[in-house]
Amino acid sequence: MRDYESIVILTGAGISAESGIPTFRTHGQVSYWEYVDTNGVPKKHRVEDVCTPEALAADPELVHRFYDLRRAGLASVEPNAAHEALARLDREWPGALLIVTQNVDDLHERAGATRMLHMHGALKQALCAACGARFDRGDDLPPGTPCPACAAPRLRPDIVFFGEIPYHMHRIETALAQADLFVSIGTSGAVYPAAGFVRLASAYGAATLELNLERSEGSGWFDESRLGPASQLVPQWVEEMLSR
Ligand code: OAD
Repeated sequence: MRDYESIVILTGAGISAESGIPTFRTHGQVSYWEYVDTNGVPKKHRVEDVCTPEALAADPELVHRFYDLRRAGLASVEPNAAHEALARLDREWPGALLIVTQNVDDLHERAGATRMLHMHGALKQALCAACGARFDRGDDLPPGTPCPACAAPRLRPDIVFFGEIPYHMHRIETALAQADLFVSIGTSGAVYPAAGFVRLASAYGAATLELNLERSEGSGWFDESRLGPASQLVPQWVEEMLSR
């Protein structure tokens, strides 16, 4: 069996699904955000229509409310066995390791992972659109909140919207180039650039493994795909890696 030195792990919404956080797509279908507005009128939006710079400019109340609700929702969820297993691998794997998450929840870090990056931002952070400063933010973030650094009333959720460039791309591409194993967990492979990581890692010579509930858009690119819930597949795979 091949031995590995350097692992890059990409995670998506599927790893947090069993903690109770809804995914963006199920069986290829997009999710909707349904809520009752302040006048008591039921509303329904495609999630992908809310997470855009255009939506933020046109209706900041709506976009901030969407993220306020998601941020508040973090208080009632816990890391599951898959997050715990990756945190164990992070602690015990002697070689290089990088967990790249597309998720904006904080479940990897609450499980104890440290060698990780949030490529799509983090719910519990605010970003000043005027000066670029970042701040921890655990509670609601109303539009117009002044920046503690420059006082401009332009704090927004520190989230990468559709059409914006994901964070840490240089570090991620460097790690992919050095990886000899790339593992993708709970992601549909529908959103680039993350969806292209498997081909990049493969082109650099890494073995590639997918752990997902169902076949994803990218399944055909992986050397191996294992299908099932992350809470079962990830602890099994971590055990295999640590007993090599
Ligand atoms: P998706 O919602 O697109 O895909 C989630 C994947 O997880 C699907 O393939 C599911 O089959 C799988 N899944 C669901 N439950 C699972 C479980 N218990 N165990 C394992 N797999 C499971 O989520 P992402 O691929 O993360 O971007 O979405 C990528 C990006 O699209 C998100 O980061 C977000 C979104 O728009 C931005 O907001 C910029």
